[in-house]
Parts: sequence; structure tokens; C-alpha cells
Amino acid sequence: MHAMNNVRFEKKGAVAVVTIDRPKALNALNFETLKELQCFFYEIDMDREIGAVILTGGGDKAFVAGADIAHMQELDARAGAEFAELGHQVMSALENLNQPVIAAVNGFALGGGCELAISCDIRIASENARFGQPEVNLGVIPGFGGTQRLPRIIGRGLAAELLFTGDMIDATEAHRIGLVNKVVLAEQLLPTCMTMAEKITSKGPVAIRLCKETMKNGLEMDIGRACRYEAVQFGQCFATSDQKEGMKAFLEKRRAEFTGE
Ligand code: CAA
Repeated sequence: MHAMNNVRFEKKGAVAVVTIDRPKALNALNFETLKELQCFFYEIDMDREIGAVILTGGGDKAFVAGADIAHMQELDARAGAEFAELGHQVMSALENLNQPVIAAVNGFALGGGCELAISCDIRIASENARFGQPEVNLGVIPGFGGTQRLPRIIGRGLAAELLFTGDMIDATEAHRIGLVNKVVLAEQLLPTCMTMAEKITSKGPVAIRLCKETMKNGLEMDIGRACRYEAVQFGQCFATSDQKEGMKAFLEKRRAEFTGE
């Protein structure tokens, strides 16, 4: 296990578990925590042994309660923009990781915490999870992608309501509007995420990487270009031994032994 001051990182087989652990501030993202996340995401991206990532918060109260308000209080316009820039670098490093990422949302996911969760591929929440973009209560707007990623996930009308009212919603409502994939008992959260992560890591690693990349990049294109792009990416699969093995194993009625080559 590697640990910095505010973030822990451990490998459980082919799954990396990253825990933001700053309980005294409900895991709020200050400059140091963002930098630590950046280091771990870089390390994970380069590590071909890691096939999936789980991101969660330390303690039983919060996933992440936002960007650190104590840190932001004294910022001027330039420092504010720089802080948001760092936040964006971290969120896009997370979004662009080679491996799928599951957010195990174990409590408050507010402001920068909600933005962190929506930069992950999949969100699973415990029953006590709460989501919101309360920035307008503080006289600011979301700065780590909330105005952009939230409407892309839950649609413009629902995102506008959350962004303009600053309302917090519970896990059931988050599930109803498609912000989370499922809601489970708190004690089932990590086991559920681990089961899903292990299922993902049992598939062809190159296919999982290309699947993530193709969905993510294609969503930013028009449908015609996106489908042509998918065809090119599909073609790439046929240059891999995973494709040969996957199809051969099917025809021989046995489990595939993928190598990630
Ligand atoms: N930044 C810094 N410290 C925070 C924090 C944050 N975002 N959220 C909580 N804390 C601290 C509190 O100040 C408190 O510290 P002390 O014990 O030293 O007083 C500690 O964590 C525990 O919090 P509370 O006593 O407030 O706990 P609670 O159970 O009464 O309330 C809460 C929980 C509703 C989450 C409340 O803490 C809260 O509203 N937090 C702020 C949420 C927020 O506004 N987040 C958005 C931040 S702005 C942002 O994220 C901008 C962006 O997009 C980049």
C-alpha cells in the first residue's frame, strides 16, 4: 500500500483502490490532496497490471464534501482560475485513465466531490450518500467540471435545477435520475464495487481499454464520425492476441485466457 498525507492507494489483485482520506475536513479537496491524486492517477495509468480502479472516501460520512473552502476563501481571481485548472487536470486525468473507474460513493459527494464522482465511469452509492452542487450557496460556480459533466450525464433540465438551487439529493433520487448505477447498503458498497471491478478485469484488457476510449471520445463527435471512429477502433482489436484467443476459446467452448496483448 502507498500512502501520502491525504490519499491511500492499494492494489487488490488487478484492482486499484484509491481512498481520499482526510476525515477531519470530510475528505475535502485542498491543493495537496489534488496533487496527490494526480500522482496516483499517473502511476495507475502507466500500470498495465491494473485493470480497474475503485475510488472512495475514508470514514463513513463522506465521499468528498467538496473543494476545500478554507483553502479557497482567500483566493483572488487569478489564483481561483489556477485552482480550477488544477482541479480540471485531475478530473480529466481520472476520466481519461486507461482503466475503468468505479466511484464508491460512501457519503457526501458535494461540489468538487460530486464533480469527482461524475468524472468516474460508473457510480455506486451507499444508502447514506448525498449528492449536490452547493457552490451557489458560497457565491461561486462549480469549478471542476460540474456545469459541463453533470448535464451530459443527467440532462440539462435536472442539472440546471441542481446547479441553480444548490439542493442536495439522496441516493434514491440520484438513482432515479441516473446519476448512480445502483444503491446498496453501506457495508455492501466496497464488496459490490469489487465484484464489478473483478468482472471487468476478467475480460479482454485491450477490449476494455478500447471500449472506454471509444465511448468517451465518440460522445464528443457527431454520430456519423463517431460510428466511423468505432469501426476503426473495432479493427484495432483484430491486431491483438486477445481477439484471437477470445474467439478461439468461444469456438472451443472454453474460458478465454487473455494476456492483454
Ligand atoms: N471544505 C473545507 N472543510 C470542510 C468542507 C469543505 N468543502 N466540508 C466540510 N468541511 C469541514 C467542516 O468545516 C468541519 O470542520 P471543523 O470540524 O474543523 O469545524 C468538518 O469538515 C465537519 O463538517 P461539518 O461539521 O460541517 O459536518 P456536518 O455533518 O454538520 O455537515 C456537510 C456536513 C453538509 C457536508 C457540511 O460540512 C457542508 O455543507 N460542507 C460544505 C459542502 C460544500 O459547500 N461543498 C462545495 C464546496 S465548493 C466547491 O466544491 C467548488 C468547486 O466546484 C471546485
